[in-house]
Amino acid sequence: CKGVNGLDKVVLREARDCSAEVYLYGGHVTSWKNDGEELLFVSNKAIFKPPKAIRGGIPICFPQFSNFGSLEQHGFARNKQWSIDTDPPPFPTVTSSRAFVDLILKPSEEDLKIWPNSYEFRLRVTLGPGGDLMLTSRIRNTNTEGKTFSFTFAYHTYFFVSDISEVRVEGLETLDYLDNLQERKRFTEQGDAVVFESEVDKIYLSTPAKLAILDHEKKRTFVLRKDGLPDAVVWNPWDKKAKAMADFGDDEYKHMVCVEAAAIEKPIELKPNEEWTGRYFSLVWSFTSDMDH
Ligand code: BG6
Repeated sequence: CKGVNGLDKVVLREARDCSAEVYLYGGHVTSWKNDGEELLFVSNKAIFKPPKAIRGGIPICFPQFSNFGSLEQHGFARNKQWSIDTDPPPFPTVTSSRAFVDLILKPSEEDLKIWPNSYEFRLRVTLGPGGDLMLTSRIRNTNTEGKTFSFTFAYHTYFFVSDISEVRVEGLETLDYLDNLQERKRFTEQGDAVVFESEVDKIYLSTPAKLAILDHEKKRTFVLRKDGLPDAVVWNPWDKKAKAMADFGDDEYKHMVCVEAAAIEKPIELKPNEEWTGRYFSLVWSFTSDMDH
């Protein structure tokens, strides 16, 4: 059906008022609800208009995370028009009882001038019967002349939180990270969960597959699992950077945190015909008191 500004979107639905919305523009998940409650953050000022990427939801950073190379910031997949993949090859996971949609991105002639590599990028967005959300990306090198390519990648997921100062991210304790706010120097995290008192923009390296975001005010935990994506980015722009972004409200930083499943430090290398898979899975738990977890 049609979304904001007439852009095409697909809506997935499950029991218990669970749903997800995916825009073909960017292959971009813009909504994920459980019991009718929105779990992703999308800015009130988001511009749903190419070529600007949608601010919020789950932008896909490919083939370059950040400005770590010669391409535009976060690559180009997030501002390309994807198509419905009507004939996807079989996926290894069982999906029969789930709502899902398959999208595909292939380079146009214009794209090949910017990044001279041929690929098929298949994205499956799955909404499980329990309301869990899973994104599976499969990227195949379809270069014909024996050319290997490499890329970095992130699911740039904006989670909705009620109050950032009451949020903790667990699973990153004692890990090394690159601090984007300090010339990407390498540091080691202390033993405590990550909390937010100012701008945070860190790339945690080789993290465990399982992470969690605790939202004390909402009394809920996002349980996150990632496969094929060793790194994790944690970002909150805080007040000054929020003001500097045209498509982000001045106070909206209080209601979001990006915890991104990523492959950044060691770019993924694909030989011709090779395929890479990267998966991000999130589900939400409610807790009634601090004793519950
Ligand atoms: C994060 C980066 O992933 O994305 C930040 O670590 C960046 O450095 C942020 O500011 C937002 O990027 P963009 O291009 O969507 O404004």
